[in-house]
Amino acid sequence: MIQYIKYLRLPALLIGAWLLTGSNAFAQWPDGPGKDVTLQLCGNCHDADVIQGHRQGRDEWVATIQTMISSGAEGTEDQFKAVLDYVSKNFAPVAATINVNQASAAELGSGLGLSEKEAAAIVKYRTDKGSFKTLEDLKKVPDLDFKKMEAQKDRLVF
Ligand code: HEC
Repeated sequence: MIQYIKYLRLPALLIGAWLLTGSNAFAQWPDGPGKDVTLQLCGNCHDADVIQGHRQGRDEWVATIQTMISSGAEGTEDQFKAVLDYVSKNFAPVAATINVNQASAAELGSGLGLSEKEAAAIVKYRTDKGSFKTLEDLKKVPDLDFKKMEAQKDRLVF
């Protein structure tokens, strides 16, 4: 019986080594200051995808890192500062696009920083007159500050 356990030990070690190296998505992270220390402090407990897939702003990263510290992440203040710089630079939120013909009034409002009245005006206009085709079409919407739309034109989808 004891011998049997010995035989099991080697495959277990090999699988462990494979998990650490073979399936390691950390290697694909963008290079930059703070990468090494982030790997060192954050790589022990979970997969790279957990961190990478968690795109958010700097303030939210501060909160996440605090949660990790209370979950047992260890490091010095300077190290966590370097982690914060790295993740907030490389895993910042992707500016979402907004489809002006399909988004609800609530989505237009929160997504584009419009007032309730402006968002409702967009929905009313497209319901009455049909889909917007270009940025210029948005100029025709009464009660809408066109400058707000122009400033975010790269995020608008028609
Ligand atoms: C001691 C283990 C440990 C370390 C070290 C650690 N984490 Fe975590 N992390 C966890 C656990 C456990 C969870 C799952 C907690 C949960 O979602 O409730 C988690 C979840 C996360 C999540 C997902 C949070 C969510 O709301 O889904 C992110 C992002 C994250 N960690 C980032 C980091 C970063 C960045 C570091 C390095 C500073 C780090 N972690 C270090 C244990 C750790």
